[in-house]
Amino acid sequence: MTTIDPRPLVPAHSPAAPAARRVSLPMANHRPRPYTGPSKAEVVATREQYLSPGLFHIYKEPLMIVEGNMQYLWDETGKQYLDGFAGIVTVSVGHCHPRVVERVQRQVETLTHATTIYLHPTIGEFGKLLAEHFPAGSGLTQSYFTNSGSEANEVAFLSAREFTGNVDIISLRNGYHGGTSATMGAVAHSSWKFKSNVSANNKYATPGYCYRCPLGLTYPSCGVKCARDTEELIRYETSGQVAAFIGEPIQGVGGVVVPPPEYFKIVYDIVRKYGGLCIADEVQTGFGRTGDHFWGFENWGVTPDMVTMAKGIGNGIPLGAMTTRPDIAKMMKNRIHFNTFGGNPISMAQGLATLQVIDAEGIQRNAREVGGYLKGLLMELMEKQPLIGDVRGMGLMLGVELVRDRQTKEPASTETAEVLELARERGVLLGKGGLYGNVLRIKPPMCLTKEDAAYLAQTIDEALTMIAARTK
Ligand SMILES: Cc1ncc(COP(=O)(O)O)c(C=O)c1O
Repeated sequence: MTTIDPRPLVPAHSPAAPAARRVSLPMANHRPRPYTGPSKAEVVATREQYLSPGLFHIYKEPLMIVEGNMQYLWDETGKQYLDGFAGIVTVSVGHCHPRVVERVQRQVETLTHATTIYLHPTIGEFGKLLAEHFPAGSGLTQSYFTNSGSEANEVAFLSAREFTGNVDIISLRNGYHGGTSATMGAVAHSSWKFKSNVSANNKYATPGYCYRCPLGLTYPSCGVKCARDTEELIRYETSGQVAAFIGEPIQGVGGVVVPPPEYFKIVYDIVRKYGGLCIADEVQTGFGRTGDHFWGFENWGVTPDMVTMAKGIGNGIPLGAMTTRPDIAKMMKNRIHFNTFGGNPISMAQGLATLQVIDAEGIQRNAREVGGYLKGLLMELMEKQPLIGDVRGMGLMLGVELVRDRQTKEPASTETAEVLELARERGVLLGKGGLYGNVLRIKPPMCLTKEDAAYLAQTIDEALTMIAARTK
């Protein structure tokens, strides 16, 4: 665990702030190899003919990425992009970070797989270093490694049900926890679950989404009713005993929703009163991304019983984990339970090297400083761009909610998609999310520089100016 002492950030309003003058996309210190593979048209045709039609892409004209280095990506024509979305918050320390590549290359040449029924030193080494990143005294020491975030959440639900003997899982509306059957059950939004999905034991509590308060209240006079309502939900819609509560410390897919500071403390206390365990889904918020703290939950002064993680843990490879206390971890011994690839030497080498780079290169501090600087630039933009309704987030997990009218908060969903297209033309990749698809999601690799941040903010500014001019 690393908690960074509050220090003054670079003042965003300083006269020297780069947003005041036009900046160019910083040139990467890397030359991509000439691309010699199949054409984009051939790749599209192959995908359509042989892959699941469930795969989608986000741009009108699909984007093909063939190389990456740190915070930059290249398409097949050699065009460079600033990766503002890190492959959906996955690349933590930089695409193909040399230290990570070197460690994994060594592992690939030595042993790729042997399964956890045999011993291998790296899994223990990684488990130990991961445990050392949890707050002292939290008891969060035992890790179960998986291949994805969904799988980590499945293990958490299973462990909670075994431990408590209860079945109901409480999650938050507007949250996202994965695409497998049980995790889809914990996702309330109908767009993210199939009609056939069975979610009888899932109940959905109210998130702390102050900009669009589901209860129509205003913080702090609301008394954080959204959190307190969890008690009514448990009393009226469950047997009165729950297995677990799962929540993202900041909702990612839901549009970078940052709850009021007391929110999680209130919810955790209620859930524990009714016999449940608390799971922090750190798939997007962990590994220093929120800047001030290594884990998202630390921002809210709570200690979860289980922490699930993926994405940033592996800097771009399929790797997830569920970490918990020994008394809960032992539930996985209740039956023979086996995971062929969870904890394989390649993933462990990549996870270990990634965590070592996070520590050695001050990645969390960079997320705090550059994230704070970028947030300042985005807040400045709010003063001149009426489409911006809200700027929120922490560290390098930022969201910009676009609305057509600041009073009615009518979501500017098509405009948000347009910003993504215009940003792409300017060499910046952004994400979008939220219930209405009207939140720009900015979650770059955490090696982002202030020059990159200035270019990113300028790009959003230009895109919004063009959209505003067109709609006048
Ligand atoms: C908060 C959160 N939890 C869980 C998941 C599922 O992870 P995966 O796609 O690796 O299964 C995601 C994926 O976006 C996520 O954002």
